[in-house]
Amino acid sequence: MTENKKVLFTIFGATGDLAQRKLYPSLFRLYRKGDIDEQFAVIGTARRPWSDEHYREVVKETVASLKPTEEEAEKFASHFYYQSHDVQDTEHYVTLKKLTDQLDEKYQLNGNRLYYLAMSPNFFGVIVQHLKSQGMMDSTGYHRVIIEKPFGSDYETAKQLNEEITAVFSEKEIYRIDHYLGKEMIQNISAIRFANNIFESMWNNRYIDNVQINLAEDLGVEERGGYYDKSGALKDMVQNHVLQILSLLAMEPPAAFSDHEIRTEKIKALNAVRVYTEKEVHENFVRGQYDKGTLDNKDFPAYQQEPNVSEDSTTETFVAGKFKIDNFRWSGVPFYVRTGKRLTEKGTRINIVFKQVPVNLFKARIDEPCKDKKLPQNVLTIYIQPTEGFSLSLNGKEIGQGFNPQPVKLDYRNSAEAVENSPEAYERLIFDALNGDSTNFTHWDEVAQSWRIVDVIRHAWDKVDPDFPNYAAGTMGPQAAFDLIEKDGFEWIWQPDNWYRERGLLK
Ligand code: BG6
Repeated sequence: MTENKKVLFTIFGATGDLAQRKLYPSLFRLYRKGDIDEQFAVIGTARRPWSDEHYREVVKETVASLKPTEEEAEKFASHFYYQSHDVQDTEHYVTLKKLTDQLDEKYQLNGNRLYYLAMSPNFFGVIVQHLKSQGMMDSTGYHRVIIEKPFGSDYETAKQLNEEITAVFSEKEIYRIDHYLGKEMIQNISAIRFANNIFESMWNNRYIDNVQINLAEDLGVEERGGYYDKSGALKDMVQNHVLQILSLLAMEPPAAFSDHEIRTEKIKALNAVRVYTEKEVHENFVRGQYDKGTLDNKDFPAYQQEPNVSEDSTTETFVAGKFKIDNFRWSGVPFYVRTGKRLTEKGTRINIVFKQVPVNLFKARIDEPCKDKKLPQNVLTIYIQPTEGFSLSLNGKEIGQGFNPQPVKLDYRNSAEAVENSPEAYERLIFDALNGDSTNFTHWDEVAQSWRIVDVIRHAWDKVDPDFPNYAAGTMGPQAAFDLIEKDGFEWIWQPDNWYRERGLLK
């Protein structure tokens, strides 16, 4: 690690929202912990004509909430340099290279370079070509590039982008970010599966009825309407975060816990996800867009009234669907997914719903109102955010006379203190990239297959005009999302909207 942490970060898009909200605070946390020490420097580039002084002031503001001492903030910010830069202008790379060499000398960075592309993907190609042509890949140390999503807008554009990048960086030097892979509980999926025999031995179609992946947001599009209206929930969430989570849940146990072995298994899992025909898309996927709504006495506007969104927009803000995985382990087990904006609550959680016991011995004894005299199903829930932990619902016997089964829940949550002190997703990911560990980044083969899966859904939808808006802000999406799962005889395990409805706080 000592050698790795001597590094020059060059951030393209240094004045942007991501750099300010995520990158600078993450770098500060790494600095504070000594994961990067005095031998590092950051060149921030963007079009605006900022001075080093102004840039450092901005950096200090972005870390203020982490409560550094004045001296600490000053010392940290002194490592930051600003270069006004037009990514299309070759001359600017000459200046950038000069500054790079000077800083390498000043901080003794051994030629290690980490390029961070945090701007519009249209420019990724032109940036990396210049890095090569202007000799910025010739230094003696390592050269790595971190790339923000979206990686393309469909398979073809992603492929083209990938070709441009791989003309300069090899696959093992490319770190494609999916920030969900940096989340504590996403990383915990592997521990839950592979460190507990009681789960892994049952992790298949003999014992699991269905899997439900929920990525719900209570926020609307906020100030990102311009981007979002061209993207929509399918590309914004399903192509990346949802399919990454699905691959971690569905993959076979890797031969070793290494980036290469894990990626191999994730790719195999994604390759087994059925790529639907148009007809299958309409049977298995539904979309929605939020209308105005009232939740808990607060009024929310419709999506079409949000800033930078067109008034007759047909962009989906909600997707629910059923993936089928055609392999021995999962054949017959639906993987339901649900994601959307302006839903009842923010919540990322996975429900693994186990099958009923083969014979219900308690049938005759179950008192009303137990539905259909069926036993409640065992459910393993993995809570990713806002709380972190997992729970397992089991059946016990109701205390007292008789043999009435009663559901009980074993519930574990990481303490608020542990959550507060655990590294933030970006901090983990930058740390991994510094160490050359690509376990929590997406390989090109994963990106490519995810686009193939999603492209057919997009194409099928594009042929039919949706009837939008179709769900009220504050609810858990359109009726079609409930019908989708109910027609298979299941229901969404997580229904936070019911709590509000029962109290008259949601219609
Ligand atoms: C991003 C999407 O990738 O993930 C956003 O572009 C979304 O639209 C965000 O809000 C959700 O991330 P998190 O970490 O807040 O769940």
